[in-house]
Amino acid sequence: MVTVRDLREQMGEDPITMLTAYDAPTAEIVDEAGVDVVLVGDSVGNTTLGYETTVPVTVDQLASHVGAVARATDEALVVADMPFLSFGVDEAETIENAGRMLKEEGASAVKLESGPHTVDITERMVQLGIPVMAHLGLTPQHVNQYGGYPRQGTDQAGADRMLELAKAHADAGAFSLVLEHVPSNLAETITEAIDVPTIGIGAGPHCDGQVLVFDDAVGLSEWTPSFSKQFGDVRSEMESAVDEYVGAVEDGEFPAEEHSHEAADIDDIY
Ligand code: KIV
Ligand code: NA
Repeated sequence: MVTVRDLREQMGEDPITMLTAYDAPTAEIVDEAGVDVVLVGDSVGNTTLGYETTVPVTVDQLASHVGAVARATDEALVVADMPFLSFGVDEAETIENAGRMLKEEGASAVKLESGPHTVDITERMVQLGIPVMAHLGLTPQHVNQYGGYPRQGTDQAGADRMLELAKAHADAGAFSLVLEHVPSNLAETITEAIDVPTIGIGAGPHCDGQVLVFDDAVGLSEWTPSFSKQFGDVRSEMESAVDEYVGAVEDGEFPAEEHSHEAADIDDIY
């Protein structure tokens, strides 16, 4: 089993690999490939639940996917993403929501979209035994604040703020930090400045690890961000299988004799 300590030891030695997964079969594939961390992202809202953004995802929805992934994962560290407003509003509620992912669903850590408002809650959760992965840069739960998904840390003031927040979350005890859609030179600066592993998405090659959304990486998503890469073409594979099935049923080719059986004891009464 990969632990948060293993990731710390891997930092600067071997690149850390992380992928999202939302269900048992994809978790099995990711785990068997030797991926270090499987993230049950709130991107489940976009990839799987049919929402435009991650904003509507609930704790109950996320928890159900965390359970499925945790049951199918033997080796990787399972990290549960905290949905919009499930953290940071009320301390007790935050801890209850995060604790549920560990106590009931089988995750070993949580991730939350970080900001000035998450330093204290990160420290509190770590004290209680809930490992926290921080997340800076583009935080998609702020889509209504941003009015889109802009790159972050593109000017000196923004870069300085992000560096300070990265240090604050590392000091608060976060075991790792996701950097999303930030300039690679800023990601490099942050990676050098803190002693916990950085995991980048759209953050260049200098992070201690990389993460992608599973559906984007395998080519299942209809649209992928420019910083992502499709390593496969799963969507067209699925499309052609479904087309073949429909055609085979319509043409009477499926089911064939080998897919059918007769019961010898039933009388032919008609
Ligand atoms: O929800 C998600 O998939 C994420 C990753 C992109 C880091 O937060
Ligand atoms: Na997320």
